[in-house]
Amino acid sequence: MSTVNIVDRTCLPFQWQELAFEVNGHLEKVLDPSQGFPSNLLQAMRHGVLGPGKRLRPVLVVLASRVFHAKANPWPAASAVELVHAYSLIHDDLPAMDDDDLRRGRPTCHKLFGEAMAILAGDALLTLAFETLAKNYPSSISAPCCLELARGIGGAGMVGGQVQDLMWEGKIPSESPLGESLPGEQELERLHSRKTGALFQACLRMGYHVSQGQKTENSREDLLDLLDQYGQNIGLAFQVTDDLLDVEGNCQATGKRVGKDARKGKLTYPGLLGTERSKHLAGELCSRAKEIATQFGPGGLPFVELADFLATRDH
Ligand code: IPE
Ligand code: IPE
Ligand code: MG
Ligand code: MG
Ligand code: MG
Repeated sequence: MSTVNIVDRTCLPFQWQELAFEVNGHLEKVLDPSQGFPSNLLQAMRHGVLGPGKRLRPVLVVLASRVFHAKANPWPAASAVELVHAYSLIHDDLPAMDDDDLRRGRPTCHKLFGEAMAILAGDALLTLAFETLAKNYPSSISAPCCLELARGIGGAGMVGGQVQDLMWEGKIPSESPLGESLPGEQELERLHSRKTGALFQACLRMGYHVSQGQKTENSREDLLDLLDQYGQNIGLAFQVTDDLLDVEGNCQATGKRVGKDARKGKLTYPGLLGTERSKHLAGELCSRAKEIATQFGPGGLPFVELADFLATRDH
């Protein structure tokens, strides 16, 4: 098994690239060797986190906080969500789940460090995320952030979505049209909204919470609701395009194996609706998200740019 040289993965909008770069610096500090972790555990955690990911979730935290208050400190919350995301990817790749050997252009965590260490690295990242929140904010900020994050990734959120994903696995025929006993679009939307959308929404809400306690520059109450709506749309759009990339994308750009969803009989948008309808849906969700972002006021532009990127991304 070899490492793949992934092509330029930095074609995100300019401000996103800058912020993603800054996120990396903060993640380095959170995963500093002075933590006192066994060195092989820390190595596995660093492998899972510090590879070339897009850092979309932490950047969402930062930008959401800036919509409400430019001087808020979003970095611990931004780091926490990326730690959680990395844990979810490590576990998602395990043999008991998607059984993948390539992630971010490199061997998956369990391929390099073994299954037990990959499970434990995921556990430690999840725990470190909550520690990072609790350690770096007063309880008036850390408590609501912990709550949003726990809700987003727990049984009613990401973990619940992963369970649904596994429940349907192998039940979807790869060739023939779907019969009536098979799931409808509503079930798929719920699955994807939990599996992926819930964490996106949590990121935006955490951005709002870290800005509280500062004198708010922007106290429009409707903004939190707008952020929720934006998160719902891009969260779903993101997973629809992820499914599409598994069908039409390539390993060089995505840094992951492709064609696996159909082989495993996963419940996906292209599998259920076909690629053309899925693309149309992704485009519609991104347009809706853009329309919502134009109501954010100052600070809304990067959200518009992100929606544009998500509609056309190749990684
Ligand atoms: C992959 O997420 C997992 C999904 C929820 C589809 P990303 O595509 O954001 O992965 P990285 O962080 O850029 O590697
Ligand atoms: C993973 O979805 C969602 C997570 C919660 C990690 P996928 O299984 O489609 O993600 P990839 O394609 O492996 O990145
Ligand atoms: Mg999966
Ligand atoms: Mg997977
Ligand atoms: Mg996928």
